[in-house]
Amino acid sequence: MKLPTDSAITIDVPLIREDPTLVNTQITRGLQGHPKTLPSKLFYDERGSTLFEQICELPEYYQTRTEHQLLTQWADEIVTMSGAEELVELGSGAATKTRVLLTAMANANQLRHYVPFDVDESIVRRVSEELVQEYPGLQVHGVVGDFLFHLEHIPEGGKRLVVILGGTIGNLLSHAAKDFLTAVNAEMSSGDYFLLGVQLITDRSRLEAAYNDRQGITAKFNKNIIRVLHNNFGADSHPDLFDHVARYNEDAHRIEMWLRSRQDQTLNIADLNFSVPLAHGEEIRTEISTKYDQPLAQELLASSGFEMVKWYTDPESLIGLALTQKP
Ligand code: SAH
Ligand code: AVI
Repeated sequence: MKLPTDSAITIDVPLIREDPTLVNTQITRGLQGHPKTLPSKLFYDERGSTLFEQICELPEYYQTRTEHQLLTQWADEIVTMSGAEELVELGSGAATKTRVLLTAMANANQLRHYVPFDVDESIVRRVSEELVQEYPGLQVHGVVGDFLFHLEHIPEGGKRLVVILGGTIGNLLSHAAKDFLTAVNAEMSSGDYFLLGVQLITDRSRLEAAYNDRQGITAKFNKNIIRVLHNNFGADSHPDLFDHVARYNEDAHRIEMWLRSRQDQTLNIADLNFSVPLAHGEEIRTEISTKYDQPLAQELLASSGFEMVKWYTDPESLIGLALTQKP
């Protein structure tokens, strides 16, 4: 087997060059709001990404395996239709399902470049090393950044397929999702394809079970945000001082994850010179996970400048994959 050379991997890290006040302001503004919130990108340090990988294997978390099956069924068609030689993935994580698309591209002799873009540096580096081993000749250009602020760091490429999988778009409020996809569209060339994976609206019990797993992995993932605040921002609280709460908000068709304070406490964040009192039972919202249906997804994509090419779903309509094109 041909050994990959170092030149097969390039990693850009706009995150460390970013104005540090960006994330600081996001944290302090969020904790001063009503309700109090924290940015969900803070889940994802090395431990958070590993916990998310464990979530993907849980019996209750049907989303990953359903999307994996859909991709397995349709990857050849998607890859052929797109004609893409470069795959750009926003919120790439462990890129497990991505391999289905990369293999289809390799089989079609279309695979040249992969661009994993993620806020967690450790996972971008790990995935880049793995993929150049698995796909000889592949050039990986990773970007460690916030996809809401650093999209211009996506390298220029040939004909592209841009993907956002896993329902990550659902973690944004609807106006932010539209602004984000509009910005993604602006980075693409006319004729490029965009594949969006969305989690679909289904019954409350199935949804709530997926975020309240019996092994407590989702609870650990939720509380990891307190560890990250401690390790990276000097916060003095402890994960054990919070309970994990996840419930379905039917009106907004979204799961909401909260951390509920187990006692009266003051959360002091030393590096931000910021303190906030939390009453016993008070909740901080750490994540929303919006569920879509086909019309809602279509409306979001059309309002962001994309034309629907094909909609794929599973027999139970749990996951939707929208293949679209920039006109
Ligand atoms: N696409 C993978 C991972 C989904 S988890 C899958 O389908 O399984 C969401 C991923 O998005 C995580 O890896 C997280 O680090 C990343 N992420 C979350 N917010 C981000 C942001 N603002 N900018 C860049 N990456 C982000
Ligand atoms: C990454 N994202 C789409 C996951 C979700 O389902 O919203 C994150 C997650 N949170 C708890 N479990 C999984």
